[in-house]
Amino acid sequence: MLLETVGLVKNFKGLIAINHVDVVINEGEILSIIGPNGAGKTTFFNLLTGIFPCDQGRVFYRGEEITGLAPYDVAAKGIVRTFQTTKIFSQVSVLQSIMIGRHLKTQSDLFASVFRTQQMREEERATRQKALEILEFMDMTEEQDLVCKSLPYGDQRKLEIAIALATEPDLLLLDEPSIGMNPEETMNIMTLIKKIRDRGTTLTLVEHDMNVVMNISDRIVVFDFGKKIAEGTPAEIRENKKVIEVYLGEELS
Ligand SMILES: Nc1ncnc2c1ncn2[C@@H]1O[C@H](COP(=O)(O)OP(=O)(O)OP(=O)(O)O)[C@@H](O)[C@H]1O
Ligand SMILES: [Mg+2]
Repeated sequence: MLLETVGLVKNFKGLIAINHVDVVINEGEILSIIGPNGAGKTTFFNLLTGIFPCDQGRVFYRGEEITGLAPYDVAAKGIVRTFQTTKIFSQVSVLQSIMIGRHLKTQSDLFASVFRTQQMREEERATRQKALEILEFMDMTEEQDLVCKSLPYGDQRKLEIAIALATEPDLLLLDEPSIGMNPEETMNIMTLIKKIRDRGTTLTLVEHDMNVVMNISDRIVVFDFGKKIAEGTPAEIRENKKVIEVYLGEELS
């Protein structure tokens, strides 16, 4: 078990967004979290990554309690996420944006690099090399010099995953990676998610596209009104009466 939540609760002024949720994420799996709008999926990611404190419950990562850690400290443990809405550095190049992401992991301060000591020059070279490797892995080498904001939307979403990979996470949380993508971009992102897992990263995604979910998930957890109402393999979830009633009936019709 890589990550475990025990009795997680989050209230927003009386609205219970997460209601005593126990979820396990196993090392090496692709886990999808599905459920209707407002079910608490994004809030769950926000609790795991320390963006919001939880009101009750605990989070364990590799057996160590990480409840209440700040986002930066959670990321330093190896848990990195992307957001439901696009958040890229729009004015810099694709390569630079990955290098900036990578700097979160390296020793010297990005802004101190104006002094250009020998160590910094070497680090800069290594950072650039790593960023280029990630671009190659993501099949985005040709886009490296483009300004981020000039990328087509699908590539901007892909770049966000690339930036997340720059810190070499062990657990990558993707909030609706295929949102707004056309069928070709969606196929592409599915292949990529599998490739990331095959490289040794555990993935948890929130996703509305049931073709994506059923195709790539090892396991699925279903949320409704802040509660976990089901979990199982794609085949089990597809047949689950409760899930069909609250969610799948609508999504698959
Ligand atoms: N910062 C916040 N302040 C107040 N209420 C919030 C906040 N964030 C989320 N909520 C509420 O918590 C509930 C769960 O929201 P959340 O965004 O987690 O749902 P979701 O499952 O990600 O939905 P969607 O599929 O639409 O993205 C919703 O009722 C939402 O309005
Ligand atoms: Mg959401």
